[in-house]
Amino acid sequence: MTPPAALTPTMANNDAIDRASQCLLVGGLVAFPTETVYGLGADATSDQAVARIFEAKGRPQFNPLISHVSGVEMAGQLGELSGLALELAHAFWPGPLTLVVPRAPNCPVSLLASAGLDTIAIRMPNHPVAQALISRVQRPLAAPSANPSGRVSPTTAQHVADGLDGRIDMVLDGGPCTVGLESTVVSVVSDQVRLLRPGTITREQLEALCGVIEDTKGAAIEAPGMLASHYAPNASVRLNASAPADNEAHLGFGPDLPQHDGPVANLSPTADLVEAAANLFAMLRQLDAESPRGIAVMPIPADGIGEAINDRLKRAAAPKT
Ligand code: TXA
Ligand code: MG
Repeated sequence: MTPPAALTPTMANNDAIDRASQCLLVGGLVAFPTETVYGLGADATSDQAVARIFEAKGRPQFNPLISHVSGVEMAGQLGELSGLALELAHAFWPGPLTLVVPRAPNCPVSLLASAGLDTIAIRMPNHPVAQALISRVQRPLAAPSANPSGRVSPTTAQHVADGLDGRIDMVLDGGPCTVGLESTVVSVVSDQVRLLRPGTITREQLEALCGVIEDTKGAAIEAPGMLASHYAPNASVRLNASAPADNEAHLGFGPDLPQHDGPVANLSPTADLVEAAANLFAMLRQLDAESPRGIAVMPIPADGIGEAINDRLKRAAAPKT
């Protein structure tokens, strides 16, 4: 799908929401309003669609994304909601609270969306357009703020159009966001609650429900950019390897893979970086499952989304702490 050259916000009526839903179901990118900021949405269950989010934002890293859901029931299919997580959801959903919980065993969300972590961030937005869209698609929508990486988050449809013109398929206009600040992010793992990102739902509001909340200091390791400490393959990873050694698995890229007897996966036979990003986490896991002595990774170009791929690979190759 080629994004339109001039991106004009589309008034979010039923017809537009229908078209947005069709677009999402074929892997398109649709920006939509939430009560906090505009989100850049994609089908969270599609590796390809999620990879396009990172490409459109120009993110140098695969930060984990929030999966937006229609309610507690959909949330329960994605993550393991403990009693405490359910209490928080009932108290603050729909609303600007994101819960980070362990991924459910059969979680359908792309590994790329949770950046290879064992946890998943979930939220039910409090905006009629966001809710209508998710209900129409009947799938969780991965959505970071709809701005180019490093820029200010958008609170109007026009902000989105200004920043992402030519990079996404559609912007649903649901008026200015009422909250204007990204959601509070809280992790609830093993009944330990930690505030990962402050927001309009305050620490005090959360503590009224769950008692004293751990300081964010320890939580820094779960913040974006610190992914190596959370997910690296068991096998050691060797980068820029034109050919694998015996006993190594080979993670290739492009049409010219050397002959190899051991496990092989190709990130993209056509050297398409978006496809490579979509395959990255799943293929690292797939090769790791063969228990090779190491994983030799072919050189990946560093342009565009290739920068994020190389960043992630570097973290996977870093000595484990
Ligand atoms: O209000 C919002 O949350 C907006 C709207 C669109 O919903 N979205 C948003 O997404 O701000 P983003 O991608 O800009 O921020 C997501 C935050 C990041 O700080 C990320 O580190 C954290 O959520 N996050 C996502 N998954 C996580 C995980 N598994 N573990 C820890 N943190 C996670
Ligand atoms: Mg953001």
